[in-house]
Amino acid sequence: MNGPKACVIGWPVRQSRSPLIHRYWLRLYGVEGSYELAEVEPDAFEAFVRSFAAQGFVGGNVTVPHKEAAYALLDAAEPAAVELKAANTLWLDNGALKGTNTDGFGFLANLDDAAPGWEGRRRLAVVLGAGGASRAVVAALAGRGFARVAVVNRTASRAFEVARLAGRAGEPYGPDDLPELLAETGLLVNATSLGMTGKPPLKIDLAPLSRSAVVTDLVYAPLETDLLAAARARGNAVVDGLGMLLHQAAPGFERWFGVRPEVTPELRSILIDNLLGR
Ligand code: ATR
Repeated sequence: MNGPKACVIGWPVRQSRSPLIHRYWLRLYGVEGSYELAEVEPDAFEAFVRSFAAQGFVGGNVTVPHKEAAYALLDAAEPAAVELKAANTLWLDNGALKGTNTDGFGFLANLDDAAPGWEGRRRLAVVLGAGGASRAVVAALAGRGFARVAVVNRTASRAFEVARLAGRAGEPYGPDDLPELLAETGLLVNATSLGMTGKPPLKIDLAPLSRSAVVTDLVYAPLETDLLAAARARGNAVVDGLGMLLHQAAPGFERWFGVRPEVTPELRSILIDNLLGR
C-alpha cells in the first residue's frame, strides 16, 4: 500500500484496538495510507523508533510498556508528554522525532462529548487508582481547573506521587477516606484496573455519592462495568471508557494523515462489536 504509514508499538500488541480505529478513519476519509501493529520487545524499542524513516513510517502510537522509553527518545516533546514523562503519539518532523501524550486529551474529550457540563463547579474530582492511566487523568483534571483532585489508592506512596501531578490541587488519600470524599465530589473516575474482565471487582459503596455527580470508568471491557451499572441505577450520569480510547487516537491520525478525524457513532459500534467478539 502507498501513502503515509503509521503503527502502534507495544509488547504484546495483538490486543490493541488502534488499527481498527485508524483503518476505519483511513477508509472514511479516503486517505491512502496504512496503520500496522508493531510487536517490539523493550530491548529493540529504541532501534525500531530510530529506524522509523527507513521503514517508511511517518509516526506511530506507543502503548505498554514503551511510553516512558518513547518520551526519553524525543527530540521535542509537547507539554502533555513532558508533564507525564511518557509519550503515546510520535511523529517525524523534518527528521526530528516529536511526541505528545493524548491520554488526558482523550479523557476530557470523552466527557465533553458524552456528558456536556460534567465539570460542574470544578471543586473536587475523585480519581481511584495511581497507575499510568491515573497519571494522565489527574494531570488533565488539574489542567481543566479543578480546585481539588483527590487520588485514592491502596498503595499510599503511589497516591502521593500521582497527586503531585495536579500541583496544589492534588491530594493523596487511602481507601478509608473514600466515603467522605464521595459525599463531596462532582466527579468519580475509576482509573484502576479493577472491574475489567478477568480482574477482581471494584467494590465501593456509592451510597454517600451525590445524585448529581458524574461517574466514569476507564475500563471499557466490559463496556458497562459494575461501577457504571450501579451509578446508573441510582440516577447518576455515567460515561464509559470506550470514548477515551477513541478520542485519544484522533490527534495522531491528524498528524500522520492530515485530516482531523471525528469519533462517529459508527466507529463506536465497530469497536463495541469487536469487544463483544462479533
Ligand atoms: P495502569 O498503568 O493501566 O493504570 P497499573 O499501573 O497496573 O495500571 O495500576 C493499576 C491501579 O489499580 C493501581 O492504582 C493499583 O493500586 P496499587 O498502586 O495499590 O497497586 C490498582 N489496583 C490493582 N489491583 C488492585 C486491588 N486488588 N485493590 C486495590 N487497587 C488495585
